Amino acid sequence: MPDARRPYIAGNWKMFKTSADAREYGQRLLSRLPMGNGVELALCAPFTALAATLEGLNDSEIKVLAQNMHQEREGAYTGEVSAPMLLELGVHGALLGHSERRQYFNETDRALQEKVPAALEAGLQPMLCVGETEEEREAGETQRKLRHQVQEALEKVPDDRLADVVIAYEPIWAIGTGQVATPDLAQDAIGFIRALVGDRSGDAAQRVRVLYGGSVKPDNAAEILAQPDIDGALVGGASLDPDGVVEIVKAAAEQVQT
Ligand code: PGA
Repeated sequence: MPDARRPYIAGNWKMFKTSADAREYGQRLLSRLPMGNGVELALCAPFTALAATLEGLNDSEIKVLAQNMHQEREGAYTGEVSAPMLLELGVHGALLGHSERRQYFNETDRALQEKVPAALEAGLQPMLCVGETEEEREAGETQRKLRHQVQEALEKVPDDRLADVVIAYEPIWAIGTGQVATPDLAQDAIGFIRALVGDRSGDAAQRVRVLYGGSVKPDNAAEILAQPDIDGALVGGASLDPDGVVEIVKAAAEQVQT
């Protein structure tokens, strides 16, 4: 793995954790996490818990990401939150296009085409999620779906900023199901995503970080993270307990050493 691609573990809390929970979590995580482990770590918290998550993490290097963001800076968009609002809190980035947002809240590739560059321009790290359904995989449509999602979402990102986007490959059939993708299958899809970035810029393809997500747990993280194109993991259920995150960070740290 080139030096520039620092391993990245992100926890996605989804609609779990109040502000009080988040504060306590941060303190527990900091007390258990090995220092100087070489792994970039982020927590994606609900909007209401972002400030408390930052507070609990106490100016550590751990990043805090929102789970969505509107593309406009302000406007008549009831219920939405913009990049300047997140930045004011001290938030570092935003998860964009998670499959649950696509499935239940009508998040579209068209909106993501605005959201990804808007996050970058505002100084937030976008973490773009892509992935196929079980039916699409069975129908041999995985690459077509990934091509569409990646090309569309990155279309308005300038070539020299492509590597600042973090991409998470999350096959929908593996999310929350306990059915983790095999390391080979995840490697194939992520190698394909890297090649798609390479169609725009060879340099960006070398540097962009692509994570795997979908039922990553402490006991399966190491074999996934050992794959050459997989730069980290986006972890849902197992990230709700700080001990789960600590174990997965340790597995990622071993990749830094090997
Ligand atoms: P999971 O969720 O780890 O619980 O499968 C992953 C995600 O939705 O990001």
